[in-house]
Amino acid sequence: MPNQPRKILVTSALPYANGSIHLGHLLEHIQTDIWTRYQRMRGNQCYSVCADDAHGTPVMLKAQELGITPEQMVAQTRAEHHQDLLDFHIEYDNYYVTHSDENKELCEEIYNRLDKAGYISKRTISQLFDPEKNMFLPDRFIKGTCPKCKAENQNGDSCDVCSATYSPTEVINPRSVVSGATPVLKDSEHYFFDLPKFESMLKEWLVSGALQEEIANKLKEWFEAGLQQWDISRDAPYFGFEIPGAPNKFFYVWVDAPVGYMASFKNYCNQHNIDFDSFWNADSDAELYHFIGKDITYFHCLFWPAMLEGAGLRKPTGVNVHGFVTVNGAKMSKSSGTFIKGRTYLDHLNPEYLRYYYASKLSDGVTDIDLNLEDFAQKVNSDLVGKVVNIASRCAGFITKRFDSILSENVVEADLLSQFQRASSDIAQMYEERQYNRAIREIMALADKANQFIDAQAPWVTIKEAGKEQFTHDVCSLGINLFRILVVYLKPVLPKLAEQAEGFLNDSLDWDSAQQYLTLHKINKFKALMQRVDMDKVNAIIEDSKENLEPKKMETQKPADTDSPLLKDPIAETINFDDFAKIDLRIAKIAKAEHVEGADKLLRLQLDLGGETKQVFAGIKSAYQPEDLEGKLTVMVANLAPRKMRFGLSEGMVLAAGPGGKDLWIMEPHEGAKPGMKVK
Ligand code: MSP
Ligand code: ZN
Repeated sequence: MPNQPRKILVTSALPYANGSIHLGHLLEHIQTDIWTRYQRMRGNQCYSVCADDAHGTPVMLKAQELGITPEQMVAQTRAEHHQDLLDFHIEYDNYYVTHSDENKELCEEIYNRLDKAGYISKRTISQLFDPEKNMFLPDRFIKGTCPKCKAENQNGDSCDVCSATYSPTEVINPRSVVSGATPVLKDSEHYFFDLPKFESMLKEWLVSGALQEEIANKLKEWFEAGLQQWDISRDAPYFGFEIPGAPNKFFYVWVDAPVGYMASFKNYCNQHNIDFDSFWNADSDAELYHFIGKDITYFHCLFWPAMLEGAGLRKPTGVNVHGFVTVNGAKMSKSSGTFIKGRTYLDHLNPEYLRYYYASKLSDGVTDIDLNLEDFAQKVNSDLVGKVVNIASRCAGFITKRFDSILSENVVEADLLSQFQRASSDIAQMYEERQYNRAIREIMALADKANQFIDAQAPWVTIKEAGKEQFTHDVCSLGINLFRILVVYLKPVLPKLAEQAEGFLNDSLDWDSAQQYLTLHKINKFKALMQRVDMDKVNAIIEDSKENLEPKKMETQKPADTDSPLLKDPIAETINFDDFAKIDLRIAKIAKAEHVEGADKLLRLQLDLGGETKQVFAGIKSAYQPEDLEGKLTVMVANLAPRKMRFGLSEGMVLAAGPGGKDLWIMEPHEGAKPGMKVK
């Protein structure tokens, strides 16, 4: 079946630039990466792009809080995100950022086309405004008393206590999360996109096969509720792109974010001489797939296809929606240490374990996926180490030591080989349809068969028997060949393991390699391909994730103006004087500073308070060598409740400033200050 190679463009949702990549994001990137790698192995022309989502109020405010420009913050975060992804072997052709020239140009072009076609209108609306900060407040930046149950300190659009949803203008005693001021109602002209005009197009698209059944049903509910005009503008101050012909009005972040897919690809096309338009024109012969989480379905399945259609462009071939990651059966949570950042995981464990575990759980459905950490360790150990790698390690030694590293020329068990080879098309289809869990089950069933074969033939026994030399050679050679086929099938999931196996097999593998059988072929010395998952390391990840709670840190947050429940108060709340007076700030002398065995971020400090000494674990290792700290004066919170950490008791906190990493500075008072003095 020498088909024409398909032309495919794949995207993953663009992570917000105000927080770190966590294990939830990684589910999506791993799902996308496996699919892309599979397509490439099949010889298809498959491009993948992603980017950081740079715009919106939360990014703007976070940068203000850090005292840097949003551009600086976004550049920093983009680099960090990209590195995190690469370290999980997630390789996009381009990892860009939505704050780019290409994106600005494309947004303007699309907007102008929509405007020209009559899909844009203007209307004045009244919204809550922060008179101190001089800015309109997205719902999530308002807090106050729930109008239904009167619970205090609830969000501007929903109540955590009684689950009511309401409009921010209904909140009792509302206050701005940004400044603490009481918001006032203020008029402003907004720009709207005429979504209802696209209803019949969307209804058709819905049955075109682009969507999973659950998602198509969800869309039907939305149609029943009635489509609304979509507010696409935000007033200054806003970090985003100004709307052409509308000074001080900016595109809402969800307008330029999906266009960011195009912009990232455009940037790549420009560098590689690829015909961008042939992927995006209305009559494009390319396929376009977006991988997203279920929380952003609305944006990708209603607004985005309507925008594309309205601008005379092609619509997605498929929007592939996945569920949410839970850890040990519950929503990822910071207090239990299950809100795990990609980097924290990488500090302790091999990224391919996670790739494999997610693959073994991922289907084409939208159900949530539980990362049960015991199950994770057990599955990786039993499947990858115990089954797959074991096949090679049981056979390789004999080939090397006894047969000159050359595989035999016979196939001792043709049926078994043929079973392995025939599985190729089923497994291929499972990858194609994103039923990775089924593919993995199929592959492991084959691995079981290979191990049973080796068990039954027992080459370690026959090698010692007279006249069984050729037989032993044939058995081990088949074992190595079966291992090789399994590696072909696992290569989209485990690219690094495949690379090492290719080194050992002295071969390079694509999908069709499964149909070849290596005879009289020289292999290289076998080295252990994968270690077992050590549960202590898993526990260390949880401990380190609890640590993330301590200093005020950037967290991944939804922009305040989406309807996500994930946003937690991103800005420090105002406190009254009494609250402030409770904090016992003291001058402390760093009597001793030392590394902490097994901690990636912490230094252990002995702080002399002029008579009393306290031990503090401070997350400043990235910025300081212990020897540079000893003897310095600094400021500490002396009355913080002691906290038991994995490494010992921490009895306070030292103050430091800066965005983090190397850029972190502890407070250093003037010389005259003496240890123990109260800071006022
Ligand atoms: N910036 C928007 C996407 C714009 S796309 C044009 C956004 N960013 S996000 O950082 O909040 O989420 C990025 C992706 O990660 C989304 O697809 C989201 O569903 C996914 N996930 C975030 N948390 C997740 C889990 N806990 N589990 C699985 N996926 C999750 O939304
Ligand atoms: Zn309530």
